Amino acid sequence: MSQTAVQTIPAAYFGETVTWVHHWTDRLFSFRCTRDPAMRFVAGQFAMIGLMVEGKALVRAYSMVSPPWDEALEFLSIKVQDGPLTSRLQHIRVGDTVLIGRKPVGTLVAENLLPGRNLWMMCTGTGLAPFMSLMRDPDTYDKFDRIIVAHTVRQVGELAYRDYISTELPGHELLGELASEKLVYAPAVTREAFPTFGRITERIETGRLFTDTGLDALDPAKDRVMLCGSEDFNADMKALLEGRGFVEGTNNNPGSYALEKAFVTK
Ligand code: A2P
Repeated sequence: MSQTAVQTIPAAYFGETVTWVHHWTDRLFSFRCTRDPAMRFVAGQFAMIGLMVEGKALVRAYSMVSPPWDEALEFLSIKVQDGPLTSRLQHIRVGDTVLIGRKPVGTLVAENLLPGRNLWMMCTGTGLAPFMSLMRDPDTYDKFDRIIVAHTVRQVGELAYRDYISTELPGHELLGELASEKLVYAPAVTREAFPTFGRITERIETGRLFTDTGLDALDPAKDRVMLCGSEDFNADMKALLEGRGFVEGTNNNPGSYALEKAFVTK
């Protein structure tokens, strides 16, 4: 998919150069690209990302995986063979140009949550992306005693960034100490044998999530939750949390939980 012709980038986007591509599975990949210094965002936000196709911008919402202090940008994407964008994006190579929207937005930001004890970042599939950024933002650690990243996927191979979260981040020169002290990684798998097996909704109902992590059960007075997953996941988790007294936080109106869908499904 190398782009040889010079493309005119629409004014709403930066044209950035791909610097790294990693395929986790046949359904999931990550890529990094250069970042214009004018591209500013808050950890947890998303931007419109895509490619020029037949002279037009073909873009979808993608949360930044990389933290705001990173000089590059990183994204996590599914691959859908007949998806308008991801059928093409999955073939990008180092040196290709990607479109990066100039105006990141989103609700999964620490500002939308009231102060609290534990921050539970619950996600499925590519919903992990905004939490990769948040777990590398020192501000997140300032605000909470514990940060738990509870990532649920179908198969073990889909636990993207598993080694990074469990091994590399605790040894990171700037964040290692904070992450070692405060970050709890709680991966789970639903369609393959794994020590922590099952949907997070079930693991909350049965209390397994709390015995497995050694943490107290969710308490709306003290704990905060961020959700990022499929529509079904978000709807079920929303009902579960609201049934326990959690209140949704939005921009300018902080609450005890915040929610965003994991956007790209095609
Ligand atoms: P399951 O394998 O039981 O469907 P998907 O790839 O379909 O987006 O799913 C990603 C992960 O999210 C899977 O582990 C899936 O479990 C889980 N999941 C899907 N829907 C829900 C839901 N409504 N509540 C909790 N977990 C869900």
